[in-house]
Amino acid sequence: MLLGTQRITENGRLEIGGCDAVELAGRFGTPLYVLDEAHVRHCCREYRRTFESRYPNTLTYYAGKAFLCPAMCRIADQEGLGLDVASGGELHTALRADFPTDRILLHGNNKAQWEIEMGLEARVGRIVVDSLYELEVVNTLAGQRGQVVDILVRITPGVKAKTHTLIQTGQIDTKFGLAIETGQALVGCRRALELPNLNLRGIHCHIGSQVLGLKFFEVATKVMTDFMAQLRDELRYEIEELNIGGGLGVRYLATDDSPTFDEYAATIIVALRQALDWHNLRPPRLMHEPGRSIVGEAGTTLYAVGVVKEIPGVRKYVAVDGGIYENPRPALYQAEYEAIVANKADHQPAERYTIAGKHCETDVLYSDLELPHVEPGDIVAVQTTGAYHHSMASNYNRLCRPAVVLVNDGSADIIVRREELEDLVSHDVIPERLAARAPA
Ligand code: LLP
Repeated sequence: MLLGTQRITENGRLEIGGCDAVELAGRFGTPLYVLDEAHVRHCCREYRRTFESRYPNTLTYYAGKAFLCPAMCRIADQEGLGLDVASGGELHTALRADFPTDRILLHGNNKAQWEIEMGLEARVGRIVVDSLYELEVVNTLAGQRGQVVDILVRITPGVKAKTHTLIQTGQIDTKFGLAIETGQALVGCRRALELPNLNLRGIHCHIGSQVLGLKFFEVATKVMTDFMAQLRDELRYEIEELNIGGGLGVRYLATDDSPTFDEYAATIIVALRQALDWHNLRPPRLMHEPGRSIVGEAGTTLYAVGVVKEIPGVRKYVAVDGGIYENPRPALYQAEYEAIVANKADHQPAERYTIAGKHCETDVLYSDLELPHVEPGDIVAVQTTGAYHHSMASNYNRLCRPAVVLVNDGSADIIVRREELEDLVSHDVIPERLAARAPA
């Protein structure tokens, strides 16, 4: 499987964004996250085209949790997208990049007071309020500042999407949002209308992530539009904005059947229009906030092969310089991936390997990959690592988080520099009472 601008050159090497992957590994070191700029921009444009051609009043927000740094904010801004931030840190990143704050949505199921205040201070476009408690808090904090803040209320539509349980968020039993089924969604919207410093612009839902079945999005859109009708009928209030979240799945394996943007947009907009007509509702502004499907397939991680260990009759292990620290997804979600040996990209698969990392535990990253004969020094390129890799990386075992390099048309630029050993101790403190070293 080749994704985005990936291709195999005449000399049998993997190229991404016009850059030789083996040369990138040599120049920037490994592990290395490589981001294919043309592919990211293509996804942004395809989202806008497929939605806006059918429903011009659509706003596409990029969900920054998938991967965020100031350069990524610039790309989203240049492509005319808004930005969904889910913490003060993500908001700070956006502000550092001068992202237009009126196109920012501030999310979070348990926002700290300082995060809400930061959003109010920055005058973010919308705060997405997650609970009855938060309605009161946001109202009070906005009141103290003499502001009336535009909000969306997060609704739980009661849709259980088919995906890993840890990334399902639309079912009743979730920490997120106010459920329609329990009546709390209606209570929340009624309260939002009563509170003087809140301006209820709309409702929001997000059913989960890496969702490949379109019917879940269809049902969620219908349920949310039905709820708009309920708000009109019971509260005499027609909301202006409907945010249907993100969640569209991508290809990790060639066998993954991910819907096209076109199919996705058509599903949502057909369901929306039908329900609007049925209820005779005014068409709202449609918002959505994809993350993974914008950056996921544009990312490739390059690793250098170290030890190759054969246990005769059992398994062949390939140890690479990565691990849970740069990709926790196999451990968390049993995620599976495909890989290419970048310096042998034209060789036929010869053997089955299990790729492990370098931690002091059994950190199997990629099991049972069919690869050409692998030797120390080879460069393994693992695909679809653009979303929730860099953003979920840690320093476990005091390993330095890798750099992110943006490639396009033969140029490669660092957009996040590799951590250095000194970065690892730069936050550490030895208190005065521990100052003395043990006597020799
Ligand atoms: N909106 C909200 C409110 C969300 O919670 C999320 C993702 C998104 C939008 C973007 O969803 P996407 O289009 O990226 O699926 N760490 C997990 C994924 C967690 C998703 C969290 N929320 C993983 O690595 O699979």
